[in-house]
Amino acid sequence: MAKAIRASQAELNTAVQALRDGDVVAFPTETVYGLGANALHAPALQKIFALKERPAWHPLIVHLDSARFLHRWARGVPDAAAKLAQRFWPGPLTLVLPREAKVLDAVTGGQDTVALRVPSHPMALQLLTAFGGGIAAPSANRYGHVSPTRAEHVREEFGDSVRVLLDGGECKVGLESTIVACLHGEVRLLRPGHITLTQLRREVGEVSSGPGAEAPRVPGSSAAHYAPVTPLRLVSAGQLERLAQELSHGGVRIGVLAQRPPLGSFRSVTWINAGTRLDSYTHDLYAHLRTLDKVGAACLLVQEIPADEAWDAVRDRLTRAAAGTAPDPGDLP
Ligand code: TXA
Ligand code: MG
Repeated sequence: MAKAIRASQAELNTAVQALRDGDVVAFPTETVYGLGANALHAPALQKIFALKERPAWHPLIVHLDSARFLHRWARGVPDAAAKLAQRFWPGPLTLVLPREAKVLDAVTGGQDTVALRVPSHPMALQLLTAFGGGIAAPSANRYGHVSPTRAEHVREEFGDSVRVLLDGGECKVGLESTIVACLHGEVRLLRPGHITLTQLRREVGEVSSGPGAEAPRVPGSSAAHYAPVTPLRLVSAGQLERLAQELSHGGVRIGVLAQRPPLGSFRSVTWINAGTRLDSYTHDLYAHLRTLDKVGAACLLVQEIPADEAWDAVRDRLTRAAAGTAPDPGDLP
């Protein structure tokens, strides 16, 4: 059953009080669940790093209820950034801009830039409006794990150590936001997401991609991110059955995330057909990886996804997941 995507007044009061008390609050966004704290309260931010076991120099995204107070966080908003904000906020876009002096080093990782985003999930907006300030929030998973797209994923990650968890149902997009830096007169895509390079270019013309010479650090771009615990390997559609059969020999369990049903049946293979529709594939990707992580598989085989741009963000996450967990190539046929 679909979960209500608005919080009750009582839930909101509890969450806002927790933020004011310097506690963390897990909340839904349209991309993934976030683990939020008052962005202006250093000890609260420390709790995020401690819970996630995340290195303290990794910067956080500040979530705002609208673009109206953008200037309180960013020193000068280039025209391109204003256009992107106007077009895509609220929504799955994060803008990296020069920071205002008041922004804490714990948020920026000591850099002179700050990442800002106005999410579109109604419950996130309710929380931001009721709190009335910036909420710094990374994805609500332990460092390097798969991001949570359902409230129960957050519980799996943190148990009762997160006191307040707003349950807003399943995240609509299911992948982390597109991150774009608007710095030094240039627009650069740092992390692909639901909003594509083509959509960005349509708004602002030239957009570079990948880390530039002056690009800020994006820890999400390190290889070990977005990884399930089980070793994961990308394989072409034509190899799935053969590899699944070979690797499951002798009863070894193998997980498969495919875009079609299996041709034939295999005893020790857990096969998920995630389909070929981008929206539903993306929506369920992290839930599927979590499911496959729990079946006791020795290895996950993920069908290579299509080459076109619309799939860039999915390809990016899966490639990183494969890099983060892949066993020595010599271990596998
Ligand atoms: O969709 C999302 O962006 C989710 C939801 C909760 O909003 N948040 C998220 O946060 O994915 P996190 O911390 O897991 O990833 C944020 C990324 C990190 O890779 C971080 O390095 C990058 O944003 N980032 C934050 N501040 C930055 C900055 N000033 N310059 C460059 N990258 C920055
Ligand atoms: Mg994350």
